Amino acid sequence: MAPLKTVPSSDVRLGMFIHGFEGSWWEHPFWRTRFLLTDLQDLQRLRAFRGGVIIDVAKSQATASATADTASTDAPATALPPPAADAAPAAPLRASFSVEQAKAAAVVAGAFETVRSTFDDVRLGRAVAQEKVASLVDDIAGQLDRNASALLRVLQLKSKHQYTYLHSVAVCTLMVNFARHLRMDDETVRALGLAGLLHDVGKMAIPEAVLDKPGRLSAEEFALVREHPERGLALLREDPTMPALAKEVCLHHHERWDGTGYPHGLKAEAISVPARMGAICDVYDALTSHRSYKRAWLPARALGAMWSWAGHFDQQLLFQFMRSINLYPPGLLVRLASERLALVLHNGARATRTRLLVFYSFADAAALDPTLLVLTGAGSDDAVVGFVEPAASPVAVPDLDLYPPQSVTN
Ligand SMILES: [Fe+2]
Repeated sequence: MAPLKTVPSSDVRLGMFIHGFEGSWWEHPFWRTRFLLTDLQDLQRLRAFRGGVIIDVAKSQATASATADTASTDAPATALPPPAADAAPAAPLRASFSVEQAKAAAVVAGAFETVRSTFDDVRLGRAVAQEKVASLVDDIAGQLDRNASALLRVLQLKSKHQYTYLHSVAVCTLMVNFARHLRMDDETVRALGLAGLLHDVGKMAIPEAVLDKPGRLSAEEFALVREHPERGLALLREDPTMPALAKEVCLHHHERWDGTGYPHGLKAEAISVPARMGAICDVYDALTSHRSYKRAWLPARALGAMWSWAGHFDQQLLFQFMRSINLYPPGLLVRLASERLALVLHNGARATRTRLLVFYSFADAAALDPTLLVLTGAGSDDAVVGFVEPAASPVAVPDLDLYPPQSVTN
């Protein structure tokens, strides 16, 4: 295998190691010529470059270098970099890259551009182009229909620069998925998707120097950031056709169940269900994303932290959110459709599967020999239907530490 290979810019994929560009250096779009391509925005800029791109095949990641070898023109639009998670060393890319993940990546890339241009418009004092954003919600909803897990996985791959925009796309996706899980009607689902896309639009009214500031904010800066829900509402009110739900989520997505949130310090049921949903989706996506000051958390770790923050969220709704993404934090006791009680185990690097230890039968009112059950979400296995407080367990709960994470579960 030759270490260097030149491919047309249309064949460049995420995960390729860019060694250089054909032609004059000032014609190509990057100040640096040698780097691993992991950023969607960089990929889009690179695709616009008309000329040959020199790839270092040896330094490219598995899937991307396989593509470089064949330089196929009908390959998927983008390839996935490794999962953005805090699992120790990056696992090699799986050789087979699913078409669904490519489609999901294409939806995300389109969504990224739409949200960026919408937010830029707002920054420049233009109104939110609701039509454009609403059709994006339809694209996202369609992709969720085809393959929800592929889309959710692609959305974990945010890099620092893409954060604000892709966070909006991710919250939209989670909201649509969550609202459908709660069997809300189509119009509500659409409005909540729009709410997810626009919940942080008020940040465009906050100076970038404050939003992007590394380290601690001063009290004045913090107060400025906390204005973003109200600033957002003011922006969304400019559009008389903006759904009320989108304005509601924008204004109240930082309220907390115990009344310690902002801007109004609303408590419990005084916070609308859409705003409570927005708070959950917003924090879940923030925790599972890479930021300049922290690495992404694995989804199960994020859910565990959120579950442990007493008073932050509506716990019943948080549990429903877990059901909507079919993931649960280790240590949670769950009731199964089969009328059995189970403990959620650590699932190690395999974050997309929930491992359970079944240990009690409600139907027989009897303890069971602890048995491992892996929920694949394929529909044929058991399902989680509720959660049980540890104090309410009819028998002693098995010790979670006796069941350490496994890297391979099935
Ligand atoms: Fe926010």
